[in-house]
Amino acid sequence: MTPNRRTLLAAPLALCAGGLAACDRFAAAEPTPPVVPPLKSVSPAPFGTAIKAMQIDDPDWVALARANVSQLTPEWEMKMEYVLANGLGRPNFDRTDRIAAFAQANGMAMHGHTLIWYSQGAEAFSGLTGAAFDRAFDGYIAAMAGRYRGKVRSWDVVNEPILDDGSGMRDCHWSARYGHDGYILRAFEKARIADPQAVLFLNEYNQESVPAKGAQFLKLVERLLKAGCPLQGLGLQSHLWIDIPEGVIAAYMRKIGQFGLPIHVSELDCTLRTDRRLDFRGQADRLAAQGARVTELASAFAALPKVQQFAFTVWGLRDTDSWYRQGAKDDGRDKPLPFDSFGRPNPIAAALAAGFQD
Ligand code: XIL
Repeated sequence: MTPNRRTLLAAPLALCAGGLAACDRFAAAEPTPPVVPPLKSVSPAPFGTAIKAMQIDDPDWVALARANVSQLTPEWEMKMEYVLANGLGRPNFDRTDRIAAFAQANGMAMHGHTLIWYSQGAEAFSGLTGAAFDRAFDGYIAAMAGRYRGKVRSWDVVNEPILDDGSGMRDCHWSARYGHDGYILRAFEKARIADPQAVLFLNEYNQESVPAKGAQFLKLVERLLKAGCPLQGLGLQSHLWIDIPEGVIAAYMRKIGQFGLPIHVSELDCTLRTDRRLDFRGQADRLAAQGARVTELASAFAALPKVQQFAFTVWGLRDTDSWYRQGAKDDGRDKPLPFDSFGRPNPIAAALAAGFQD
């Protein structure tokens, strides 16, 4: 199964500034990089990447982004963890404003991520009850979605509402106030008011790789649509790993496609790491398994009806930009993204191109 997400999510954002190449001590030992066309030129829909504001100051990252992507998703500076770091009364929009300006200046679309997430906001909202909580909840969405109205193409209005094992909905400070479906309905209604043009998404991980979780997500979508929720798109995060059985990803894409809604592959990466106690596979075998899964995903996305191909986003461009390669979790060998630390195409880039052109 995928490495422990809690550890990853908690991993401090400790990028080795500047010396990223130095962190990738295995780069020199890699096989010859594949020749791959610009990914935005082969993707059937806008091809995006996660972005951190600091990457705007990295000319190598900017060149790679301009060549390969046409859409940006703020990786963490549009989340409450950053925006409300100084409290509800003093939101930080500086870095997301910068990302929005960079997107506009470079003719790139922007996907907002994320308004309401179980894992953030508890501190800023602590001590608020009743009408005060409601004013803060509604006010936050109005302020954030209102500020970027006309600048973002779409929003992850609610992120990761399902329990990891798929047994039900997560409990969180939002569901405590409004109920498990209630907070989602309220968030979408407020987002719709704040930005009538943005495409509103529900976003989740491990849908395709944990069948019970995917099934629970699809049941939630059905309930929300029946309740008249302005849910307009479904986000498949696709944080894949190499031991997902063949065919599972494609089968789930067909299932989620049945609602007829736009699909956003929203956070693709594919770690080479597994939780197997004994795993003697070499890098080459792992890269081959990774390529097969990524091609399967890209091909399944490309097989969707055109109107449902919203966008295809990778969760970073270079291996050393990945959350898998930050902090103590970095094993120095993982290659979860389309490019290596020098910006050279990884096997994943070739796997994407192959899947899109299937
Ligand atoms: C992650 C970022 O990549 C990390 O840099 C940050 O420390 C924690 O959040 N699902 C999501 C993303 O929706 O917002 C998470 O991004 C990865 C899992």
